[in-house]
Amino acid sequence: MYVEKQKFFYRIYCFIPRSVCFRIRQKKLHLLFGGLLLLLIYYQFNNQIWQRPPAQPRIFSPYRMIYQVRKSEIPPKPDVIKVLAWSPLANRHFSDDTFRSCSQPNCKFLADRSVLMPLLKSKALSPIERYKLDLKLLQKADVVLFHALSDEFRRAVIPPMRTPWQKWVFTTAEAPRRDFFQHADYAKWRHLMNLTVTIKADADKQLIYGYYSETLEIDPGYTLPDYFKRTGLVAWAASHCKTESYREQFIEKLQNFIPVDTYGRCGKHPCPGNDVEDCFYYIGSRYKFYLALENSDCPDYITEKSWRNSLTHNLVPIVRGKLNNYRKYLPPGSYIHTDNFESIEQLARHLLNVSQNRTLYESYFTWKFKYEVHNRDTFMDLCSICEVVHDTWDIKQSWDLDNWWSPDQCLHNQTDYLA
Ligand SMILES: *[C@@H]1O[C@H](CO)[C@@H](O)[C@H](O)[C@H]1NC(C)=O
Ligand SMILES: *[C@@H]1O[C@H](CO)[C@@H](O)[C@H](O)[C@H]1NC(C)=O
Ligand SMILES: *[C@@H]1O[C@H](CO)[C@@H](O)[C@H](O)[C@H]1NC(C)=O
Ligand SMILES: *[C@@H]1O[C@H](CO)[C@@H](O)[C@H](O)[C@H]1NC(C)=O
Repeated sequence: MYVEKQKFFYRIYCFIPRSVCFRIRQKKLHLLFGGLLLLLIYYQFNNQIWQRPPAQPRIFSPYRMIYQVRKSEIPPKPDVIKVLAWSPLANRHFSDDTFRSCSQPNCKFLADRSVLMPLLKSKALSPIERYKLDLKLLQKADVVLFHALSDEFRRAVIPPMRTPWQKWVFTTAEAPRRDFFQHADYAKWRHLMNLTVTIKADADKQLIYGYYSETLEIDPGYTLPDYFKRTGLVAWAASHCKTESYREQFIEKLQNFIPVDTYGRCGKHPCPGNDVEDCFYYIGSRYKFYLALENSDCPDYITEKSWRNSLTHNLVPIVRGKLNNYRKYLPPGSYIHTDNFESIEQLARHLLNVSQNRTLYESYFTWKFKYEVHNRDTFMDLCSICEVVHDTWDIKQSWDLDNWWSPDQCLHNQTDYLA
């Protein structure tokens, strides 16, 4: 419906379909007609869009966080904790058996809103029906999951309601990278999340890509396989080509001194085999070193590049980053850190030296006599989400994401050792 002004007191009111038009010349009739229109608009809005279902006693809006739950009101932990995914989880969808393999089996998938999205976005539902569907899900959920790298998070699509003891869980296995998070509307999420499951060590539950432990039954006759015989020097494979850590430039500079064979989407050679596992099996049987360079330098952000890609395939990882605390995470003596060298040239010389000296090269594997490494599929370690909810059920807390997940905690534009 639109109003077109032609002359003073001379208007045409048109309705959709446009063919229905009214011309009004008289001032009084004009006022009456306009008034009726306004009433109609008000009525529509009031009834269809803004009218929320009557507030139920245990439901309140996240925008008005005044509801205080007293200690005595902590509801008993439900036998089955029902999980609603508000946003897609790293492009994976939930299914009924998502939690079936967990040792803590008391979680149940309720719904994945991203699966419902086509329905929610379609014209089949009116705004109020869509809203009611969301409410129905939200009222049933004990846990609402938010994936950090989702559109819902970035654009602050906040659920319209929460039940008082519902846990909102913020999760991602990525770092607080600037390229994604500088555009996120954090201010709106401030203090809304109750639990965090991310790579940071101070999260309620830290996601890790791997860990090492002491080998329980050490075989006294263990001898190191002949890793030294591999003739390739340094390899790198990646699919994320332009990074905040400038690893691509770092590699280019390194190539001025020693050969680096690059695989995958950002490399010269396609990754051999059918999948990632094939690719690293190939690299692991031919090369001595692997450039385990992260896409950004953030605290505790050490990914499968060091674990699955390097250590599991008996490649010595070359790691870089001032904030990633490698000493805390990787087996002692298992890696080469670029910070120990004054320049890229010196690093290159060291790699050549090590690659030509069996004793020296094998010294990077002495940890194998004592420890073993394990990989974790953090990509979505859903069981840890379930665990943390179990373990913290009666703790009431919320996180200031604005500070805690700020990209400012990472180093950017690392051009420092490109000399
Ligand atoms: C090679 O490494 C060994 C052991 O770290 C060191 O003693 C030697 O000076 C190095 N040689 C060169 C040419 O860098
Ligand atoms: C190889 O490295 C070992 C250990 O650092 C060193 O003692 C030895 O001299 C090196 N051998 C050669 C030929 O450089
Ligand atoms: C979760 O966080 C909200 C928002 O800060 C808070 O009102 C609510 O009490 C918290 N609930 C729990 C169980 O921690
Ligand atoms: C990093 O470098 C880019 C391009 O040179 C620049 O636009 C950006 O502002 C820099 N970021 C920081 C945090 O210095």
